[in-house]
Formats: sequence, structure tokens, C-alpha cells
Amino acid sequence: MILVTGASGQLGDALSRRLAARGTAFTAVQRPGFDFEKPETITACFEAAKPSLVINAAAYTAVDKAETDQEAAKAGNHTGPLALAKLCEAADIPFIHVSTDYVFDGDKGEPYLETDPTNPTGVYGATKRDGEESILATGAKAVILRTAWVYSAHGKNFARTMINAGRKMPVLRVVADQRGSPTAAGDLADAILAITDKISATGWQPEYRGIFHATGGGETTWHGFATAIFEDAAKHGYTAPEVQPIATMDWPTPTRRPPDSRLDGHKLASIFGTSLPPWRETLPGVVADLLKPDQKT
Ligand SMILES: NC(=O)c1ccc[n+]([C@@H]2O[C@H](COP(=O)([O-])OP(=O)(O)OC[C@H]3O[C@@H](n4cnc5c(N)ncnc54)[C@H](OP(=O)(O)O)[C@@H]3O)[C@@H](O)[C@H]2O)c1
Repeated sequence: MILVTGASGQLGDALSRRLAARGTAFTAVQRPGFDFEKPETITACFEAAKPSLVINAAAYTAVDKAETDQEAAKAGNHTGPLALAKLCEAADIPFIHVSTDYVFDGDKGEPYLETDPTNPTGVYGATKRDGEESILATGAKAVILRTAWVYSAHGKNFARTMINAGRKMPVLRVVADQRGSPTAAGDLADAILAITDKISATGWQPEYRGIFHATGGGETTWHGFATAIFEDAAKHGYTAPEVQPIATMDWPTPTRRPPDSRLDGHKLASIFGTSLPPWRETLPGVVADLLKPDQKT
């Protein structure tokens, strides 16, 4: 039995769909029944599911709001996931947790390795980093996947924002000096299931414990990502807006974003034998789904 948390989110939804399609026994939980701000719900869901493995797709993900909502961000990204890790440790089962490129400041100038020092630039990144460190300080069989720029046809994300904005405005200004790797939630879910398959096949191995980078292959800027989204959307008759490149300084946000958050994925490939496909290959399918009339949220 696999327990999936945060089932209403992008990753939780993608995991739930895949587990259902595979016929794997799983329990998917979400708020209000499972809420990191209500610790008793964490224990209750865990005890009810009796899992043999937990995938934590729940997190406080509102990056800018976290600056003024620090307690909720801490519960969602640090103390809540830690409580879940401790339950997994006590039950001696694997715990797959998801973290972020925002643990880095983005000033390295080349793809980050798992061993590079962290230096988050805001509350969201700091709470995610604290979550990583406190989980690894337990004895849990923890696999922590750092991902980035997650998008899907389900939920709030950059691709949906662009599609919706492009319907209203003929010209969009998009930041062209931040580099990263768009990651389809479905591709991340596939990588996570490849990890669970490997754990099942080999039993738990000591080298599985720790941090792994897991982002879509290749890289781009937000401007490049937006341009590609509209290229793909235009093939479905969507009238694409003009996308003008701007600098980060022209789009101020409460939290400073890492200017270059590319993550090196070699460790994931070498230990688990899996990698995520190039972001540019996955995007057309997600854009097609986003443009379906029933995809309104
Ligand atoms: N989105 C990105 O660009 C991005 C980038 C890097 C890393 N990540 C990481 O990737 C993972 C998956 O992200 P995602 O994009 O799927 O996020 P998402 O779509 O925002 O979903 C987050 C999920 O967590 C739930 N949640 C929020 N606060 C909670 C709480 N206090 N207790 C229990 N559940 C709570 C949400 O529930 P509600 O629906 O009730 O709000 C939702 O189900 C997260 O660990 C995130 O930090 C995401």
C-alpha cells in the first residue's frame, strides 16, 4: 500500500492517475483530512493507510506568500514532512519526499550538484531546506528529490498562467534572464514510480538514502518556456500573443528567484537508472491537455 499525500496538487494528481492506471494499491490523501498544520491528521492518515511506502507530494508552495505566512510554510515544508518521516522511520518503510531548486541562490553559474551548499533566498526555500535537513537527520529510509519549474494540465502553474494571459492580452512581458528546467508533473511522477519499482526489485539499499536532482531534461528561460508554450498552442488554433523578453529587475517579486537553478541529474540516473525526458518533448502533450475545454482550473 502506497500512501500519497497532497493528492489535489500537480504532482499528487499525476501520481494518483498513474498508480490507478497501474492497478497499484494506494491511498491518496489531501486537505482537510490530511493537513500538515494539524499534526493529528498526519498520524491518523498514516495509521489508517498502513503504508509500505510513502510519497509526500504535499507542500506549502506559495513562494511569495510564504514571506508573510511563515508558520504555515514551516508546517507544510519542514515540521509536517518531518513528522511523516518519523512515522516512516518507526514503521521502517521508505519515504519519498520532494524538495526544490529554491534551496539554492542560483549564483553558481552551472548546474547544481546534490552536494553543493544550499543558500535559499526566501522563506519558501529556507523551509524546504530545513525539511530536507531534518528528514535526513532522522534514520528514515528517505529519498529526497529536488525538482523545479513544475507544470501540468492540472492546477496552478506557469503554463496555465501563460495560456490564460495570452487569451486576454496581445503582448506579454516575460523574464528572460532566469535559467532553469521545466518539469512536467507527469514526468516527475514517472521518475518517482521508477524509484519505487527499483526499491521493490532490489530491496532498500543504503545508497538510495539522500538527495537526488530530478528535473526535465534540457534548460531554458521563462521567456523561452513561454515562447514554446505558445508555439505548441498555436498548433491547436490558439492565437498566440507576442512574448517580449524582460529582465528580472523589471518584474519585481517579494522573494528573489534564483537566476540559474539548473540541477545536475546524473546521480538519479546512476543510482536509480532513471531520468526525466527533455522538457521540450513533453510540453506539447501538456499544452494540448491545457487547451481542452474542461481544463479550466
Ligand atoms: N510547483 C513548482 O514549480 C515546484 C518547483 C520546485 C519544487 N516543487 C515541489 O514539488 C512538490 C509538488 O509540488 P506541486 O507543484 O505539485 O504543488 P501544488 O500543485 O501546489 O500542490 C501542493 C499540494 O500540497 C497541499 N498542501 C499545501 N499545504 C498543505 C498542508 N499544510 N498540509 C497538507 N497538504 C498541503 C496542497 O493542498 P491544497 O490543494 O489544499 O492547497 C496540494 O495538494 C512540492 O514539494 C513542491 O515544493 C514544486
